[in-house]
Amino acid sequence: MANIKVAKNAGFCFGVKIAVDSAIEAGEKYGRAYTNGPIIHNKQVVQILENLNVRELQSYEQLQEGDTILIRSHGVPPKIERTLKDLGVNLIDATCPFVKKVHEKVRQLVEEGYFVVIIGEKGHPEVIGILGHLEESGGKGIVVENMEDLIRKFPKRNRVGVVAQTTQNEEFFEEAVGYIASNVEELKVFNTICDATSVRQEEVKRLAKDVDVMIIIGGKHSGNTRRLAQISKALNPNTYHIEKADELNPVWFKNAENIGVSAGASTPDWIIKEVVEKIKEITA
Ligand code: F3S
Repeated sequence: MANIKVAKNAGFCFGVKIAVDSAIEAGEKYGRAYTNGPIIHNKQVVQILENLNVRELQSYEQLQEGDTILIRSHGVPPKIERTLKDLGVNLIDATCPFVKKVHEKVRQLVEEGYFVVIIGEKGHPEVIGILGHLEESGGKGIVVENMEDLIRKFPKRNRVGVVAQTTQNEEFFEEAVGYIASNVEELKVFNTICDATSVRQEEVKRLAKDVDVMIIIGGKHSGNTRRLAQISKALNPNTYHIEKADELNPVWFKNAENIGVSAGASTPDWIIKEVVEKIKEITA
């Protein structure tokens, strides 16, 4: 049997744990609750919540006074929060504290007169929330998702402030900050990449170099899982991003002695265990 090394911090992060627990609690307590989008990018967990009558909200018109809605860990723009409060719904705010910190930092940068560069994925719910706070505070800024994007859009500004989506790639963040630093007079940087993200990325870097095959588990729509897979693939071409155990292909493990496993912040423990068991079976 091959030697399987599972990253110590694979799986649920602190923010996702809070959101999932709050959603389960809401389902049990109120018998029905909504979430603004999938609570996490993991189909299996979404299914469990649906069984508890906790469902993704399709449109705000669907809500009635007294309904319960949970804001997921990605957060929302302040405008949405106000709309929900005005509707008289029971609001549970499970925005991750690290995401809230990004909102605060953006507001601080705007107050101090900086043009804001958000290092993040355009259209990602967390980034939409961050942009909402930027607009609400009367600030100006851009979202950049890679170096070409940054160079192409780089503003002619003297004072630039930088924040990052909490799950951004550390290396891209550092590269982008380096570029901005050499092109502006004054730069203020808040590295808002959360610890859970940095720790997972560092572990994957170490593990990917050490093993023959790397398996990254997590939703195909999960940004943080996709970034783990990219980081791993760059160091180890035998990297495979899967959502669950039945996607494992025995061919991947032919002649593999050491196999590394990690998972995104929205991947539950039981799915990681199932994958590890299946790898054991395949390589037995
Ligand atoms: Fe929060 Fe970081 Fe998780 S921002 S939701 S602890 S990945």
